[in-house]
Amino acid sequence: MIQKPKGTYDGYGEFITKYEYIKRIFNDLCNEYNINYIDTPIFESSELYHRGVGETTDIVSKETYDFKDRGDRDMTLRPEGTAGIVRSVIENKLYINLPLKLWYEGPMFRYERPQSGRYRQFRQAGVEVFGDPTPLMDANLISLMVKFYQRIGLKGIKVRINSIGNKESRESYRDALLKHFKPHLKDLCEDCNNRFEKNPLRILDCKVDSNKECMKNVPKIVDYLDESSKKHFEDVLKYLDLMEIEYVIDNNLVRGLDYYTDTVFEVEANIEGFGSQNVIGAGGRYNNLVEYMGGPSVPAVGFAFGIERIINALEAEDIKVIDDKGIDAYILPVSENEMDYSLTLASFLRDNAFKVDMDYTNKTMKAKFKEADRYNAKFIVIIGEEEIKKDILTIKDNLTKEEVKVERDNLLDYLDINI
Ligand code: HAM
Repeated sequence: MIQKPKGTYDGYGEFITKYEYIKRIFNDLCNEYNINYIDTPIFESSELYHRGVGETTDIVSKETYDFKDRGDRDMTLRPEGTAGIVRSVIENKLYINLPLKLWYEGPMFRYERPQSGRYRQFRQAGVEVFGDPTPLMDANLISLMVKFYQRIGLKGIKVRINSIGNKESRESYRDALLKHFKPHLKDLCEDCNNRFEKNPLRILDCKVDSNKECMKNVPKIVDYLDESSKKHFEDVLKYLDLMEIEYVIDNNLVRGLDYYTDTVFEVEANIEGFGSQNVIGAGGRYNNLVEYMGGPSVPAVGFAFGIERIINALEAEDIKVIDDKGIDAYILPVSENEMDYSLTLASFLRDNAFKVDMDYTNKTMKAKFKEADRYNAKFIVIIGEEEIKKDILTIKDNLTKEEVKVERDNLLDYLDINI
C-alpha cells in the first residue's frame, strides 16, 4: 500500500470542521480590520527564499523542499508566506497604495523532524501590513492575534515580546555577543559554533545550549537599542497596556528568520501537557525586506500562526466546535419512479439557497432514514406516488419525528419559517 509522505497528514472529518471554523473566524476578523485576502504561488524561485528568509536560517539551510523544474529552474516549495507576499507586492507594484493590509492562508513546507505539532506540510494563516512604520500597528496586529485566539475560545495563551532593534542597534549588539561567547565556544553545540560566525543572535534561541552557564549572563539587546528603537519598543508596550493585552518581555526572543527589525513576538499555548511545539503564532516587524528584495523602502510588519497547532490547542482545552454542516432537507424518493420529481425538487430548493441532499440509490427505507441522520438533516422530504399525484409533500421533522403534509407551492415558506 502506498502511504502518505512522512510528516504529512490527511485532513478529514473533525479536523476539517475545526479547520474551516478557524479559517472562517480569521476571515471575519480580517474583514473587521479592513484587511484584504492575497493568494501567491505555493512554489517560487529558490532565490526568493535564500535572499528573503536568509541563507543562514535553519529554514533555508536545512529545511526547504528544493527541486529543479523541467525547464531546469531552481524552485522551492514555500516554507512560509512573507517572502512570497513581499515579492508580489514589489512585482505588482502594490506599494503604490499604502498602507496595504493583506491576509493569507495555505500550505507551507519545511523538511523538519516530524513530531506532534510539527509537520513537513502544514498550514499557516497570517497578516502582512506594508507602509505603516508606527508602533501602533505592531500593537494592533498583536491585538488582532490575541482577539483571534480569544474568539475561537482558547484560554491558555502567553504573548512573549522583544525588540531586536534596527540595523545599527543590532551591529553593536552583535559585537557584544561575539565578545561574550568567544571564550565559551567549546561549550556550545556545533550549530551555535556556526551561528557564532554567521549570525550570533541565533545562539540565543538554541534549544540545545539554552541551559548552559554562558547563557545566563548574556548581554541583553534592550541595553543596546538606540534611541529610536528604544522609543518604538516602549510605545508598542504602551499601546498593548492601553488595550489591556497581557504579555511578557523575553530578552532571548530573536526568531529564526533573518528579516526582522525592532519588534518580534511569539504566542505560546500555555496548556498543561501540550508538548514542546507550543508556539501557535509568531511575527514581527521587517522594515528592510521590501527594499532588500528590490522594491522601494517600505516598512512592514506581520505575523502567521500554525493552524494544526491551534487545532491541537483546541483539543487540549476540550473546546467543541459547532458543526454547522447539517443539511436543511434530505429528499427521499420512495422508489425509482419518484427520482425525476425528486431531482427537480432538490435543484429548486438549492436555487433558493437551502442545503439539500437526496438519495439517488435504491436502498431500503430504513437505510435511507439512517443516511438522513448521518447528514444531520433537519427535515426529510418524502416523495411517494401519492405525493406526486397531489403535489403535496410529506415532511418529517427529523428531530421531533413529527410528520406534516405541505403543498409544494408552500414548501419554501414552510422551510423558511421552520429552519
Ligand atoms: P514562523 O515562526 O517560522 O514564522 O512560523 C509561524 C508559525 O507557523 C509558528 O509559530 C507555528 O505555529 C507554525 N509552524 C511553523 N513551522 C511549523 C511546522 N513545521 N509544523 C506546524 N506548524 C508550524 C513565519 O513563518 C513568519 N513568516 C511569520 C511572519 C509573518 N513574520 C512576519 N510576518
